[in-house]
Formats: sequence, structure tokens, C-alpha cells
Amino acid sequence: MTVAFRPNIARMQGYQPGEQPQEGGFVKLNTNENPYPPSPRVRRAILAEAKDSLRLYPDPDATPLRRRAALTYGFDLSQVVAGNGSDDLLAMIARAFIGEKDALCCPVPTYTLYETLVRIQGGKLLGIPYPDDYSLPNALFRARAGVTMVANPNSPSGTAVPLEDLSRLADRVPGLLVVDEAYADFAEDNALSLARERENVIVLRTLSKSFSLAGMRIGLGFAHPRIIEGLNKVKDSYNMSRLGIAAGEAALSDLGWMERNAERIRKTRERLIAALPSVGFAPYPSRSNFVLARRKNGKSARPVYQELKERRILVRFFGTPRLSGCLRITVGTDGEIDALLAALRGIR
Ligand SMILES: Cc1ncc(COP(=O)(O)O)c(C=O)c1O
Repeated sequence: MTVAFRPNIARMQGYQPGEQPQEGGFVKLNTNENPYPPSPRVRRAILAEAKDSLRLYPDPDATPLRRRAALTYGFDLSQVVAGNGSDDLLAMIARAFIGEKDALCCPVPTYTLYETLVRIQGGKLLGIPYPDDYSLPNALFRARAGVTMVANPNSPSGTAVPLEDLSRLADRVPGLLVVDEAYADFAEDNALSLARERENVIVLRTLSKSFSLAGMRIGLGFAHPRIIEGLNKVKDSYNMSRLGIAAGEAALSDLGWMERNAERIRKTRERLIAALPSVGFAPYPSRSNFVLARRKNGKSARPVYQELKERRILVRFFGTPRLSGCLRITVGTDGEIDALLAALRGIR
């Protein structure tokens, strides 16, 4: 007997994450991880937590982590939610706000998980193309969707829009505005003030990128207590492990460590951006820890992606019409970026 999935699940493709090769030896510049280790306080906190409390369930409210996040970013505890990565928070938002046939509006191309989550709910994605300069499209201000989502800085473009534009958007949208700030620590500006001031804005952060903790799965959401209360109703009861709570709290207690790494990455990013034209690629301006770059000869970037992979350098290639001429390159260490540039020189 074959089992029948809900029609929307049967029709949809699952989310396709970037490759995580099981063997070592790759220069891994494909999933926007941080090349530097997390604060030593994280390791100490994990070891202490693992010592004798793992037989007990974690705090369902992740209170120590949320308290530290509230203090760090200037919020009340009631304005903070924690998740198993910001992907978990995005899933909670979809569950709480998107019903069958409801629309989620976002400028595209962007993080493709948004579409997967909407489809799981039986809703539809209203994707409004970014103009070539990746400013917010005018039509986004006129769309009437229950949820509007903007990744800022955006992936895969790496570009950012000014806070004033997000503030205007928050005034216009008829429902929730989600500002996904996975890469905000590599940018100049952020929208946390909107989460404090507006009742219809939630700002999401992750510890996967700037805090070097992708493997731990720690995300944070900041919003009006009414939004947080609603999200708490739909979350898994123990959505964060004891190790995740302890690691997150320790990482936030050492902001200096994160900021020094973010600064190193910004410096390497500018060096990469300056060098890309000499190896045949035109970079988009980046405010994140990765750079989108378009082949200057107008051809598909697929063969370059494949050749790099043969040389054990992984970058991200998207086969969609708008992005097929581009590679998305995570900013690694200076040595990794030198290896990438040397390989690109050899491939042309
Ligand atoms: C825009 C954006 N949001 C969210 C995430 C997910 O982050 P996390 O590791 O916290 O689930 C990513 C990861 O690549 C991302 O690019």
C-alpha cells in the first residue's frame, strides 16, 4: 500500500542545503560558515553542562540564553524567543502566521527556505524580483500579504538595504514584517530598533555565522511580547538542547571575540572583492560574510563551480536563470581566499 501525503507535500521539493562533504580536505566556501573558532568560553560551558545534567530535559523556555540575549541587545525577557537555529524560528513563524492559501511576500532571489516553509503550510510565496541594484522593489510596498519577509543583508546577493527603507516597509505592510538578520554582524546597520518600537516587526538573529556556532543550532528572535507569546504556542516544547542553551549564553557573554572575528572577515571580504575582477568576476557589494560575483564574459558559472570542486574548493552555484552566471563565495581565512583566487586564475 502506498501512503498519501498531503497534496502540497507530494508536489513540493524539499529544501536543498549546501553540500556538507563527509570527508575532509575541502576548502569550504559554500555555506557561509565562519572560518574561525568560537570563543573558548563556549567550549568550557559545553563541557560543564555535559558533566552531569544531560539526563535531564532542558529548560523549555531557554531562560539563561534568552536572559543573556535580552541584556546584550537591550530587550525585556518577554520580547525574546530562542530557537534551534533561526531556521527553527522561521518554521515557527510559518506555522503561526501562514494558513492554507495565505501568502508570504518577499523580494527574490532570497533564502530559498522561505518558499519551502510556505509550501509546507499550503500557502503561496509571492516573490517580487529585486531590481538589479538589489534595493527593495517598489511593488513590495504595495503587496498585501499577511507576512512580509526580508533577509537583510540578503542571501545570495550579500547586499543590504537601509534601515529607513525597512522602517517605511513596516508602516506599509498589513501584517507581520520579518527581518532576517542572519548576517547583520558583518553589516553597518541593523533593525533591532524596529523590533523595539513596532508591534508588527520581528528581527531574527543566528549564532551560526558571526559567532562561529553553525553546528550548535542557535537562533534568536526579538519582537513585541504578543508576537513572542504566539510563537511560543507553536514551538517544540524542548526546541533547544541543554548544550545549545549553555553554548549560546557563553557566546553572547564574549561579544568582543565575535566582533574581532567579524572584523577579520570584513577585511578579507574587501580583499576578495578587490581581486575578483582580475579573475573574470564582477562582485556585488557585500555587507555579509560572503560575496556574490557574476562572470564578466556572460557565460554560465557552472563549469567554474565544477572545476573548483575538482580542485577541492567548494563554492555555491544556483542554477536559476537570474543566478546561473554567478558564484556565491563564503569569505574564509586569507589563506583560503588566496587558494580560491589562485585556482580561478588557473581556470580562466
Ligand atoms: C538568510 C538566512 N537566514 C537564516 C539562515 C539559517 O541560519 P541558522 O543556521 O540559524 O538556521 C541562513 C543560513 O544560511 C540564511 O542565509
